[in-house]
Amino acid sequence: MAHDVSGRVSEAVVTAREVRRAFGADVVLDGIDLTLRRGEIVALVGRSGSGKSTLLRTIAGLDHGHEGHIDVDGSVAVAFQEPRLLPWKRVHRNVSLGLPGENGKRRAIDALAEVNLAHRVDAWPLTLSGGEAQRVSLARALVREPDLLLLDEPFGALDALTRITAYELLIRLWKRHGFAVLLVTHDVEEAVLLADRVLVLDGGRIAHDVAVTASRPRSRADEDVVALRKHVLAHLGVLEGISA
Ligand SMILES: Nc1ncnc2c1ncn2[C@@H]1O[C@H](COP(=O)(O)OP(=O)(O)O)[C@@H](O)[C@H]1O
Ligand SMILES: [Mg+2]
Repeated sequence: MAHDVSGRVSEAVVTAREVRRAFGADVVLDGIDLTLRRGEIVALVGRSGSGKSTLLRTIAGLDHGHEGHIDVDGSVAVAFQEPRLLPWKRVHRNVSLGLPGENGKRRAIDALAEVNLAHRVDAWPLTLSGGEAQRVSLARALVREPDLLLLDEPFGALDALTRITAYELLIRLWKRHGFAVLLVTHDVEEAVLLADRVLVLDGGRIAHDVAVTASRPRSRADEDVVALRKHVLAHLGVLEGISA
């Protein structure tokens, strides 16, 4: 953890400045400036192909082709839309795989209990439902005790009811552990329900930074949730009412 000259713990878990990423002639990120504070949930929305996954991968250290400056102060864990479990390893082994330190199995079991999967510790991945597999993926991130959780469309493949349960679980874990979250999603309602701030990625830049001050727990019917959703959709250039 970094300290500034006065010895205080730095407030930011991620600082990105002038980040640029091109694939050949295709400039995807074109001057990203971004600060994520400790413990905040930030949603990153944008059209398909706008560079959300590229930015997340860059912050995760999984992409090395960028220019500019990125500082991540703390430990990072990532979860993707596909749980990416190894089918030949039992659930607890998937969670503890590559984990430094001792007591891997004990820590995996604890993390699985936190995502309500204590009964599936010894199961094979192929016997899990989609929601369970996604929670294993979350446990695998949690067991690393991250300061920053990077989530790339983690709820995209879940059905509507499972998704609502997963939202509640994420908020519960966030309150308990206090990590910061960068949530990539194309679902504006999800962004407004979960985040403290919604960033709109457009033209390779953070084009809008919208604060969500609605108190938690939030519901999709809340007036301020509805209003903010419309506000963010307008920033994305989406007009509603076609089917009305
Ligand atoms: N490894 C890669 N090689 C070439 N082009 C890529 C690569 N990764 C992403 N891209 C391109 O970068 C753009 C942004 O992709 P991505 O970050 O996945 O967008 P999003 O997650 O917002 O849908 C797309 O045009 C995509 O085709
Ligand atoms: Mg993506």
